Amino acid sequence: MSDSRYTPLGIYKRLLSLSVRYWPVFIGVAVSSGAFAASDAGFAFLIKQLTEIVAAGDELTEGQEFVKRWLPLGVLLLFVVRGVTNFLSTYGMGWISNRVVKEIRRQVFERYLGLPASYFDRQATGKLLSKLTYDVAQVADSASNTVIVLFKDTLTILFLVLYMLYLSAELSVFVFIVAPFIALIVRFLGTRFRKHNRRIQATVGDITRIGSEALDAHRVVKIFGGQEYEGGRFEAANEQNRRVQMRLLATSAAGNGVTVLVTAFGVAGVIYLISQIDIDVSRVAGFITAMVLLMAPLKRLTNVNATIQRGVAAGESLFRILDEEPERDQGGLDPDTIDGRVEFRSVSFSYNRSEQPVLRDINLKVEPGETIALVGRSGSGKSTLVSLLPRFYDYDSGTILLDDRPLDDYSLEGLRRHISLVSQEVTLFNDTIAANIAYGGLADAGKDDIEAAAAAAHVAEFVADMPDGLDTMVGDRGTLLSGGQRQRISIARALLKNSPVLILDEATSALDTESERHIQAALDKLMQNRTTFVIAHRLSTIESADRIVVMHAGEIVEIGRHEELLASGGAYAALHRLQFSEEGAGSA
Ligand SMILES: Nc1ncnc2c1ncn2[C@@H]1O[C@H](COP(=O)(O)OP(=O)(O)O)[C@@H](O)[C@H]1O
Ligand SMILES: [Mg+2]
Repeated sequence: MSDSRYTPLGIYKRLLSLSVRYWPVFIGVAVSSGAFAASDAGFAFLIKQLTEIVAAGDELTEGQEFVKRWLPLGVLLLFVVRGVTNFLSTYGMGWISNRVVKEIRRQVFERYLGLPASYFDRQATGKLLSKLTYDVAQVADSASNTVIVLFKDTLTILFLVLYMLYLSAELSVFVFIVAPFIALIVRFLGTRFRKHNRRIQATVGDITRIGSEALDAHRVVKIFGGQEYEGGRFEAANEQNRRVQMRLLATSAAGNGVTVLVTAFGVAGVIYLISQIDIDVSRVAGFITAMVLLMAPLKRLTNVNATIQRGVAAGESLFRILDEEPERDQGGLDPDTIDGRVEFRSVSFSYNRSEQPVLRDINLKVEPGETIALVGRSGSGKSTLVSLLPRFYDYDSGTILLDDRPLDDYSLEGLRRHISLVSQEVTLFNDTIAANIAYGGLADAGKDDIEAAAAAAHVAEFVADMPDGLDTMVGDRGTLLSGGQRQRISIARALLKNSPVLILDEATSALDTESERHIQAALDKLMQNRTTFVIAHRLSTIESADRIVVMHAGEIVEIGRHEELLASGGAYAALHRLQFSEEGAGSA
């Protein structure tokens, strides 16, 4: 799929549009680059002067005497100007490009936070991370290096060519014969460079993805002897990266060789002409100096293409992220308080539109303060059902109403502010326990409230033994804590949020029966006066729910109170019987 936004030109423009606001610095860079570029032509000029003096021998005019005296100082001055302008232009351009890059990185990260859950279902996080690190670095490198080379080298070439023209139009003819060939080479290399660079990015993404997967799962790797498998996968990606890098290198080196060869034809032509025409020796000296000085920037210019294309390819990958549709957020409703009345009206949903629906014709009306327990076999759609409430996913048909308004009418923030979620997979951030409880919008919670939540969720219990108490760091993703401890922290988080709608998706699954019983008391208190959806594996914990909703294969098959459902002898009764015979066997 080709899209005009992602042509090299489109990408340059976009990068440029991010940097136009720094135009004063640009002007500084342009001026110092100009001065730097002129210094090469100036050097050729000084060589011509020197040759004139040497050729004149003792019969110097007054002007030549003057030149002779000041020439060494002139050379010195020239190099001082060169040094200073080189510093200024490099620094200035680096300054701009680092700002642009920081801005792009900020935007990409912000976009990541705003992407719908379905996007993350499809993408490996390792790949997304490598965009923030590798791709951004490529753009940075490309922007600061290439613009400098482009600026300075094109100007240097321009000045040198102008000077050559001034010295001898005849000899300069070769410049104009050679130039189109070089332009052709540069063009041809450009497309190849871009192709290779895209591949390199992809392989770096693979390396990060495989690396982060293996590191995250280090225990599984150890116990199931996955080292060889992971090593093999990594080797494949690593080798693929090396191959593409080499292809890029070969293209770049071959391009260089061809450029040098083409230039050599020009030089040979010039030398042949010099021997044929009548020309002053100092002009020849100046011309040849200029010609030699022309080589380096020309070579850099053909090569800079590699870096530019790297930046373009990386820019493309970043802009594609920025152009991803964020979560739909068109509603404006943001009430201060809600009652918590929830209604599902013939809601159907599938994760992938082309696939079988995961939820089918769900109808359920929940009054404020009611506790609804969802039960059913794993994969029956319980988690999916509750994940529609905070709009992690958009349903395909039907409506979900909160306080009699469709969820779409609320702004995402306005909606999610009133919903708390404790799920089976607890995510903690590498911070203190207190900061993990008072996370995000809860950050300005008072110390007393945090302590109260910690006490109610039985966090205080295990924190008491820790030297720093609530200020103990939890480690990367909370690895320094046990699963049950992590879960208690996430329950404390929900307690602190104190929202009118609460979702407990196997919130106590990581706790032992003893701790669960303790926390159940806290949860029961928490569930009072708020609408609660509770999914629990252990049926004993949901017997007191106002209503129990039994799901099977994406459909609601039974609704009722514990006793009613037991008495009716349907799906719930079967589940119940199964579990109690298991538990009976387990504890015997
Ligand atoms: N993020 C997802 N993308 C695609 N399919 C999913 C996703 N999450 C769950 N499913 C599928 O949806 C069905 C219901 O899953 P889920 O709601 O998690 O069940 P439960 O919570 O009842 O165990 C399952 O068949 C599962 O494979
Ligand atoms: Mg589930």
